[in-house]
Amino acid sequence: MDRFQIQGGLPLQGQVRISGAKNAALPILCASLLTAEPLVIHNVPPLRDVGTMRKLLAGMGLQIEVDAQAIDGQDSLTLRADAVNKLEAPYELVKTMRASVLVLGPMLARFGEALVSLPGGCAIGQRPVDQHIRGLQAMGAQIDIDHGFIKAKASRLKGARITTDMVTVTGTENLMMAACLADGTTVIDNAACEPEVVDLANCLIAMGAKITGAGTDRITVVGVEKLHGADYTVMPDRIEAGTFLCAVMATGGQIFAQGARADQMGATLDKLRESGLQMEEQADGILASASSRPKSVNVRTAPYPGFATDMQAQIMAVNAIAQGTGLVVETIFENRFMHVQEMRRLGAQIDIDGHTAVVKGVEKLTGARVMATDLRASAGLVIAGLVADGVTDIDRIYHLDRGYDRMEEKLRSLGARVSRVKDGT
Ligand code: EPU
Repeated sequence: MDRFQIQGGLPLQGQVRISGAKNAALPILCASLLTAEPLVIHNVPPLRDVGTMRKLLAGMGLQIEVDAQAIDGQDSLTLRADAVNKLEAPYELVKTMRASVLVLGPMLARFGEALVSLPGGCAIGQRPVDQHIRGLQAMGAQIDIDHGFIKAKASRLKGARITTDMVTVTGTENLMMAACLADGTTVIDNAACEPEVVDLANCLIAMGAKITGAGTDRITVVGVEKLHGADYTVMPDRIEAGTFLCAVMATGGQIFAQGARADQMGATLDKLRESGLQMEEQADGILASASSRPKSVNVRTAPYPGFATDMQAQIMAVNAIAQGTGLVVETIFENRFMHVQEMRRLGAQIDIDGHTAVVKGVEKLTGARVMATDLRASAGLVIAGLVADGVTDIDRIYHLDRGYDRMEEKLRSLGARVSRVKDGT
């Protein structure tokens, strides 16, 4: 298992290109199941999770051609689902990546059946998929849960009115994909408004789907008989962009996050501005500079455009060295404070009271050996390591590789001293 070794204390300076969005690329790859024609997808980040999704789709019989690093270091994929022969998402893959459940809706809609291993709980919480199942049942699917598998069947899905119990991103995406080929109109209320949902909708529309309202809490899909191939470019990763902005807020310096789109970043930018980051929106990205110690901010995670749970660990790292005390309330996942005990090893003063972390900013963090526990927790620790005095070693960095594209290279290009140390050294 690799680890990151960071020699902290240097400001970040320079330009960093923001990669394609993991959480848009994953559902868009699954959308390829909805048509027999080729779907060409550009700006796909070369990440471990994307590799897992490719493996899953290839296992079902999809032909996948990869033009590696075709444009700006991002892959272009051509997916052909004209000879799908296995309508199954096996446990071995679903257990490593919950987003595998995104094949359920498209498989059922196009082929009338699907067998998908139930994703279990994970490091950040229980994360059930009951809303995905309930929505598909409302569309006429017959679903049994048997020996840890979701067994779904339907002759042809029917349009339905669905109101989800809570805002769910992949739940909305699964139902929206399924509704594209259903008979009649589906209305999804309480839909997730995340930009990744809009990106998926735009790809589906390019494939011939009739979708309106994506980006609002009511999405309407008029089912069609068939979708066709398309050529689509994935949006930039707003969480990666937000992570780099938090990093420069913490270390000081100036960076240009090339490709970052302020209009897709919701409350992240407001909170960073409140914390003291100066930002200028430019045609091709965001120029950000920090010249003083951050000010503590209070954040409460919420569905988009509220403060993203995927940015919670990173803003916590900023608060850890800020002036004052900030409250960080996690409302989306019940167990997403695993980074707190690791940040404490670096000297952070953080108390947890239920879903609230009380972060008392300290002037200095000090390097130590810490452990990454999930993807965004790792990103929070990297930021803390960048600002800490001395050396920070972050174990289990494979969590970071799931969702950040060559982070150490990007940080090095901004002047940070980060290296990847192979196991056993
Ligand atoms: N929930 C249910 N039942 C469901 C679906 C969701 O109870 O059927 C609950 C969840 O347990 C959670 C809340 O609803 O408490 C919201 O979960 P959501 O379904 O929105 O999460 P997700 O779709 O599984 C996506 C991202 C996550 C991100 C969340 C929240 C992808 C592939 N994953 O997960 O990204 O944290 O939305 O924004 O889009 C990450 O990239 O590190 C990551 C975890």
